[in-house]
Amino acid sequence: MAEMVATFPKKYGRVPHLVVVRVGEDPASVVYVRNKAKACDAVGIKNTTIVKDENISEEELLNLIKELNVDHTVDGVLVQLPLPKHISEAKVIETIDKNKDVDGFHPLNVAGLWQKTPHMEPCTPKGIMYLLREIGIDLKGKRAVVIGRSNIVGLPVAKMLLDANATVTQCHTRTVDLPSITRQADILVVAAGKAKMVTGDMVSDGVVVIDVGMDRDPETGKLCGDVDFDTVSSKASAITPVPGGVGPMTIACLMQNTIDCFLLNQTIKA
Ligand code: GUN
Repeated sequence: MAEMVATFPKKYGRVPHLVVVRVGEDPASVVYVRNKAKACDAVGIKNTTIVKDENISEEELLNLIKELNVDHTVDGVLVQLPLPKHISEAKVIETIDKNKDVDGFHPLNVAGLWQKTPHMEPCTPKGIMYLLREIGIDLKGKRAVVIGRSNIVGLPVAKMLLDANATVTQCHTRTVDLPSITRQADILVVAAGKAKMVTGDMVSDGVVVIDVGMDRDPETGKLCGDVDFDTVSSKASAITPVPGGVGPMTIACLMQNTIDCFLLNQTIKA
């Protein structure tokens, strides 16, 4: 990726530029936003982090986004979620220009995923599909179980797995008798936001497990996933660790989306 970006100044006169907006001091968001900036630096993407006080008004934040939308030196705009309660996340997401929406959260990008028309793909689901390809799994005819139904991960990843010809069952934390469903999975994607909720007795031998969790172990306080790594890894044929599995892949996809927005920008201008 870095080699590709290095060719851009000669070809286009500049490198891609990602602007990340953080509102407030949510500890997880501070870490995520820092990691996004680090990744940009590693790839050679210009990046600006804008930090706003948690008391910023919704109007002020929407005006900032509108300014970034019309700024031709900015290719990607990302507002880190969650936002303080007085700000509508839906309004923020729909205000970002869909051609600068590196997260793929804008309603028109979501519609594009469901209608199979050109769109920006959300980073974590895109990263999961990339990982599954890397592991070398042919998804056709496989049984995939997704735990979670968020707009950010659960819903889009289930749709992508379906489009890749897996048979998909979508579950959540209130699913009755979850183990009877997860035991049928060839591929298990867990994005439920609950520490170590999937245990070894809930999976079958040979399962491929993608853990999207980013939780704290209630006993040790250490970072852990939604999957109890120790009991599940002895049965799984492949499993993504937390930290280290899906997270870096999400960031890699964010870099790719920023480059895609930049290139789209060039063709619109041409
Ligand atoms: N908060 C947690 N994950 C994400 C993400 O992928 N994008 C944004 N904007 N906020 C997040």
